[in-house]
Amino acid sequence: MYDAVKLIHLVAAIVWIGGMTFMLIALRPAAFAMLEAQPRARLMGQVWQRFFLLVLISIVALFTTGTNLYTTAFRAVKAATGAGGVPLGWNLMLGIGIVMILIFGHIYFAGFRKFKRAVAAAEWSLAAKAAEQIHLMTVINFVLGWLAIAAVRLIR
Ligand code: HEM
Repeated sequence: MYDAVKLIHLVAAIVWIGGMTFMLIALRPAAFAMLEAQPRARLMGQVWQRFFLLVLISIVALFTTGTNLYTTAFRAVKAATGAGGVPLGWNLMLGIGIVMILIFGHIYFAGFRKFKRAVAAAEWSLAAKAAEQIHLMTVINFVLGWLAIAAVRLIR
């Protein structure tokens, strides 16, 4: 059971981190190289609409499976030794994961909403500003995601 839960956790992480990798390293630079501001904003709006839905699903999966893995292991250690305790890297993953979720909440419920309103009103400079905020927060989450994975693998 533990392994199946961990597999779902991994799949959700791959979807989120892989999507950010593709967006930041391939899609965004290509859109800047090929498109003017207006079609670029429309394209990114359509991309985000789809990708952010996947991220929301991934977050629900990551959080429920992650806390399940954490508490299952915590209880097993407690039953075996009388004292609870998990590796520091796991606590770092929990902390960084929560920060990533809060940042994504900001991307989705603040930045993306602002962006969609600006595009609907054809306010292109406002749309570009909101897109830049979404980009910066995505870069932060990208870095945090890799740090969380490094922490859980490397810090005992
Ligand atoms: C939100 C709260 C989170 C909690 C409570 C959590 C908890 C955990 C735990 C306990 C493990 C270790 C399982 C084990 O080694 O048996 C783990 C592994 C892992 N987590 Fe998380 N996690 C969270 C968020 C995230 C996020 C946001 C990502 C990346 C986007 C992520 C990616 C991974 C990966 C790739 C592994 C597998 C590492 C390995 O193969 O050993 N987790 N997580």
